[in-house]
Order: sequence, then structure tokens, then C-alpha cells
Amino acid sequence: MFADVDPDTLLIDPESVARRIGGRTRAVVAVDYAGQPCEYDSLRRLCETHGPALLADACHSLGASYYGRQVGSLAEMSAFSFHPVKPITTGEGGIVTTDDPELEAVLRRWRNHGIDRDARERGERGTWMYDMIEFGINARLSDLHAALGRSQLRRLDTFTARTNVIRKWGRLRASVPKPPVSS
Ligand SMILES: Cc1ncc(COP(=O)(O)O)c(C=O)c1O
Repeated sequence: MFADVDPDTLLIDPESVARRIGGRTRAVVAVDYAGQPCEYDSLRRLCETHGPALLADACHSLGASYYGRQVGSLAEMSAFSFHPVKPITTGEGGIVTTDDPELEAVLRRWRNHGIDRDARERGERGTWMYDMIEFGINARLSDLHAALGRSQLRRLDTFTARTNVIRKWGRLRASVPKPPVSS
């Protein structure tokens, strides 16, 4: 089910989410747009009240902050694409951030064919034994891509400052969200 977006920012409207959220809602997926983070405090309150997970598509907002908190720390999981048109690039691929160790373990297995330990861990343990304990895919960012990403990350502040200058020329606001609405 889709919720409406605010026509000024094109970000998901928490009041529209509030009208649609219910006992069968499993997740609210907030999509940050053109550098702007969604109204995460409102969305988080709604999710805490009604139960679904709050997931962030933060592909457009790497480098932005929301009331002093960095994008990537505002939802249970936040996804970032590093495709060449994004704030930084690794050529292809991306990352997911979470501060939940259980979710992290699931994500690490999911990207690695559902295998319970990756090649580095097997090397450190001195064994090549592993189990494929659930369904998974190959979604690993290669070390070469990651090396490019690390050098790009060092330039993120410069890229963000430049983006903010360009944004001032445009109609969209800089990453200053409206005050949260209550649930
Ligand atoms: C907001 C947003 N989410 C997700 C994606 C998908 O990223 P990828 O192509 O790296 O999977 C894009 C790509 O343009 C995007 O703009």
C-alpha cells in the first residue's frame, strides 16, 4: 500500500501513513529524496505505536543529518546505493546499516548465500567447514569496490557541501525537515 508524499518535498507524509497503518502492516519504507531525510521521528512514533518495522531507503541522503543525527541511524535498517549517480559510488553495489546485532547477522548471511560464516571467518578459525542454514543470495560488495568506496567516503563532506550550494539554487529545501507531527 502506498502513502502520499508531501508535494513540497516529495517525502512520505506521516499523516498519510497514520491513515493507512494497521495491525497487518509489516513495515513502513521511507524513501529519502534529493538529499532530504524523511520525517523519521514521526514515522518512528507511528511504528512504535502500531508495530511495523521502520526501514529507510537512504540512497539519496548519504551525508545528510536529521536534528543532528546522521542518516543511516534513523531507522531499524537503512539502505544506501553506491551506483554512480549516488552521493558516493563504488561503481555498483551498496550497504545496509543497522544497530541491531540480530538483524546484522541475518543481513550478513543473506548477502552470502545463507552461509553461517564467511571466508574470512573460516580462515581465522582455521577451518573451511560451513553450513548453508537459510536461503540467501550473492550480494557481497567486492573488496575492490569497497576500496573505492572508502576513498569516496573521505570526499563525502566535500560532495555534501557542494550539493548544498547547488540545492540553494533550486526549489527544494536543504536537509531541514519540518517539525515532527504526533501519532
Ligand atoms: C531512492 C533509490 N532507491 C534505490 C535505488 C536502487 O539502487 P541500485 O540501483 O543501486 O539498486 C535507487 C536508484 O536509483 C534510488 O534512487
